[in-house]
Amino acid sequence: MSNNEFADRYGPVALVTGASSGIGRSFAEVLAAKGLDVVVVARRAQRLHELAARLEPQYGVKLTVLEADLSDAAAAQQIVNATASLDIGLLVSNAGYGFKGHYDSADPKAMAEVLMVNCNTPMLLARGFVPRLRQRGRGGILFTSSVEGFLGGPYSTVYAATKGFMNSLGEGLWGELTPEGISVLTLCPGATDTEAARNQGIDPSTLRNVMSPDDVASLALDNFDNGPTYIPSEHYRASFAHLLSMPRRDALMAMAKAMKPASAKT
Ligand SMILES: NC(=O)c1ccc[n+]([C@@H]2O[C@H](COP(=O)([O-])OP(=O)(O)OC[C@H]3O[C@@H](n4cnc5c(N)ncnc54)[C@H](OP(=O)(O)O)[C@@H]3O)[C@@H](O)[C@H]2O)c1
Repeated sequence: MSNNEFADRYGPVALVTGASSGIGRSFAEVLAAKGLDVVVVARRAQRLHELAARLEPQYGVKLTVLEADLSDAAAAQQIVNATASLDIGLLVSNAGYGFKGHYDSADPKAMAEVLMVNCNTPMLLARGFVPRLRQRGRGGILFTSSVEGFLGGPYSTVYAATKGFMNSLGEGLWGELTPEGISVLTLCPGATDTEAARNQGIDPSTLRNVMSPDDVASLALDNFDNGPTYIPSEHYRASFAHLLSMPRRDALMAMAKAMKPASAKT
């Protein structure tokens, strides 16, 4: 699809959550390069302003900075209200994070918070934007989920569960909205070279088959119509096809072996 066709279908304005870093920042850049104005959302507003200062002159588009903490139950409605005057044709609900380790090592408050950021806010953002998209009869919603959403994730149990919710939410909306001319894609990346790995105590240089966030964002937008779910990495497409073809118990045991924290491996 040419940039003009993309902008006609999903423009004139896109909204990207988690745009201060990683895959979300790449989405904002790729969308700006396609000629869309972009509303960029995250907590680190300074980073968003720096992104706007770089992309606006480069691509001749407008970036609107919205500082929001998506663990706040009111955040989704605040974003919907703050953008009421903008003709948003594309919602990229991308912000999210995880943590790994034994289930009982996680702080209960952190568990509740990750559920808000990874599930509740994306669900309510979509609730806010779907009526606007249906009224326009065109546009799209892209959720950034994870390959971990396809299967329970031992030692990443809470994160994988949040992404399982997102895969199901995205598939349901795909079924509802595709007949109305609205695209829905649930993007399921594997390991991607962003700050997320370091935030989980993982050194990205120790990971194999890692993709760049720019490639993940570009491929996702190029494959918007190839949903309902889309895995951008050939390696992860093959390994999850294999895992999902196995008896579920065997697949979970294989995952548990691979994911067990090094300190706990015997
Ligand atoms: N990296 C991977 O290997 C990988 C693999 C599969 C799926 N994913 C998914 O890809 C998405 C993007 O992750 P990434 O790898 O690009 O990570 P990242 O570089 O750490 O970016 C995460 C983004 O989410 C935002 N965010 C986190 N908590 C937030 C909150 N409470 N309120 C508002 N914004 C918040 C962060 O912004 P602020 O901190 O500025 O608020 C940041 O912009 C996530 O949904 C993640 O689960 C990543």
